Amino acid sequence: MQIIEHPSAIYEYCDSLRSRGKKIGFVPTMGALHEGHFSLIRKAKLENEIVVVSIFVNPLQFNNQADLDKYPRPLTQDLDALEHEEVDVVYKPSPESMYPTGNEVKISFGRMAEVMEGKFRPGHFDGVGVVVTKLFNHVIPHQAYFGLKDLQQFLLIQRMVADLSIPVAVFGLPTVREDSGLAMSSRNQRLSDIGRSTAASIYKGLLKGKSRWDSGSNPEETKNEIEQFYLDTPGLEVEYVNIVNPHDLTEVKSNHQQSIAICVAAYVEGIRLIDNLYLRQD
Ligand code: PAF
Repeated sequence: MQIIEHPSAIYEYCDSLRSRGKKIGFVPTMGALHEGHFSLIRKAKLENEIVVVSIFVNPLQFNNQADLDKYPRPLTQDLDALEHEEVDVVYKPSPESMYPTGNEVKISFGRMAEVMEGKFRPGHFDGVGVVVTKLFNHVIPHQAYFGLKDLQQFLLIQRMVADLSIPVAVFGLPTVREDSGLAMSSRNQRLSDIGRSTAASIYKGLLKGKSRWDSGSNPEETKNEIEQFYLDTPGLEVEYVNIVNPHDLTEVKSNHQQSIAICVAAYVEGIRLIDNLYLRQD
């Protein structure tokens, strides 16, 4: 497994692979790897000849300094796991090499970034857009893989790639869950055992909403049911419950829409967690 730290070095390495006709799959991460990441890596391995995984905790996408400082960084463990997954290349740039001239240019995503995560984490997606574009420019992969736990992030990246004609095929893969239903997330590492079982209620709330919706309730009643369940769960502080069209994140008001998803964000032990569930998929 090659470990490459500098943008110019990864560019040259991938360029030589491309010129030899190798198909490159890319999995961008911020480290603290879990089964969700491994499912992306395994898919990338199936569909490409070379797999590049980046580990970079991107300061630009954190709107809260404490959140950035506390973000888990178990590097040795991550590298061991990537070796075990038989990843070909790990790209691990430093913040200085990633942003040698600071960063003035922003990617503005427009309407779809004004709700949910974009509303509660101002500036977050500008930072994601910049770093993903830079990582794509460094690696120039044929295909890149993202988790659908971050549904809004995936939709925005898909839109960015289309609108800016970035020649990378992007794929979103289903959320991987712990046995309790808790969506795998690097942030889970910061939860206590009690916190973990409280956090499992996030998915329980989504399932309650789904069964309410399946039995004929409208989106508003479904949303109220989930919010009430969260309010009744000690230790869980809900930030938003949105019932949306998962193509453009507009609010869904009737049951007739082809595709509907519930998206939530909540705090447990001061740690912000997100999750989502499709009510109907086209
Ligand atoms: O989802 C993540 O881990 C990050 O937002 C990403 C896509 C690696 C960009 O920093």
